[in-house]
Amino acid sequence: MKANVSLLLCVLALCAAGARGDTPANCSFEDLVGTWVFQVSEGGKDRSVNCSDMGPVVKSVTVHLEKLSVAADEVGNSGFFTLIYNQGFEVVLSGYKWFGFFKYSQHGSEVVSYCDQTLPGWVHDVLGNNWACFTGKKLSALPPRKHTPLPSDPR
Ligand SMILES: *[C@@H]1O[C@H](CO)[C@@H](O)[C@H](O)[C@H]1NC(C)=O
Ligand SMILES: *[C@@H]1O[C@H](CO)[C@@H](O)[C@H](O)[C@H]1NC(C)=O
Repeated sequence: MKANVSLLLCVLALCAAGARGDTPANCSFEDLVGTWVFQVSEGGKDRSVNCSDMGPVVKSVTVHLEKLSVAADEVGNSGFFTLIYNQGFEVVLSGYKWFGFFKYSQHGSEVVSYCDQTLPGWVHDVLGNNWACFTGKKLSALPPRKHTPLPSDPR
């Protein structure tokens, strides 16, 4: 499964962007469903954009992630979204693809998942141009969840 995540991310063209294939976050589809606000950095970058150094936010986009994987924006466009394992998600909406990992923190063997927030992620148009970075936050907060991955699970 770990190899599959890395492969999928490369299919999503993120391996070039320096994305790591696996995170210890453990979030669910139910966590993802709801209204999210995406804070977006300056666009017009190429796929080498470094989102760990995201820069100032220039706009914010509100997206409703609904049951049956339908995504909708504020002006009536609709698209779809996918949970990627328990680690992240992709949203395709209005000609753009968004990809983010759920936020987490790790102290020793204990992991805390923040399933209502993302790490800095990537957004680009469906042709693979006009890259920018974003962070997502769900309007309704979820409690952080602690868990301890199995010791046999190499991290
Ligand atoms: C992830 O969470 C689910 C349900 O909350 C739990 O059943 C599962 O064991 C967890 N997986 C890991 C790797 O912690
Ligand atoms: C991306 O930016 C971070 C923070 O400034 C830096 O530490 C890292 O080396 C950069 N990565 C690449 C691939 O340039």
